[in-house]
Amino acid sequence: MLTVAVLISGTGSNLRALLEAASAADYPARIIVVGADREADGLAHAEAFGIPSFVVPWQGKERRAEWGSELADQLTVWNPDLIVLSGLMRLLPAAVVSRFAPNIINTHPAYLPEFPGAHGVRDAIEAQVSQTGASVIVVDEGVDSGPILAQERIAIVPGDDEHTLHERIKPVERRLLIDVVRDIANGAIDLAAHREPTPHS
Ligand code: GAR
Repeated sequence: MLTVAVLISGTGSNLRALLEAASAADYPARIIVVGADREADGLAHAEAFGIPSFVVPWQGKERRAEWGSELADQLTVWNPDLIVLSGLMRLLPAAVVSRFAPNIINTHPAYLPEFPGAHGVRDAIEAQVSQTGASVIVVDEGVDSGPILAQERIAIVPGDDEHTLHERIKPVERRLLIDVVRDIANGAIDLAAHREPTPHS
């Protein structure tokens, strides 16, 4: 059974979908803890499912390294097989990524490498493109730049605004995320293949 820690910042609707999927007897992964960078609304979903949670409050960019180190210490206590960033709106410090890589994945509301960053949905609307998408990637030290594990196109329709488009993207993200976590658990996706080669000294 694959053990999973999920990190969030917001409403946690994708977290909730993963909690629901993981509560099925035949799903090969279990969420063991949910973490957040603030008292996020989505922590209520963890409580509803009887899953422990923790908060490592964000203290500003100048203290990113300290925040990352505290977050990494919390995660180490739980020792999950996989860390899922599900709407965590902070860039993980490189030291945290390297501690857990390649076992960190992220869900993103755009068809990467298009529209990376914190405003993937808004950026697609502003670019006036006809389609965007949803992606699940391996987290590396860049901004949404890691290897793509799954992605799907979603049309932008006349009248779409950031909210309506994001609400259409999220169900796709949920399906991709649930499938990717299942595939990691059953071995169909091998994250070790995405491990950075160790530099020769
Ligand atoms: C999701 O769409 C996720 O992809 C996005 O935040 C939303 C969280 O929704 N993450 C990013 O944009 C990260 N760059 P939720 O809190 O309702 O699950």
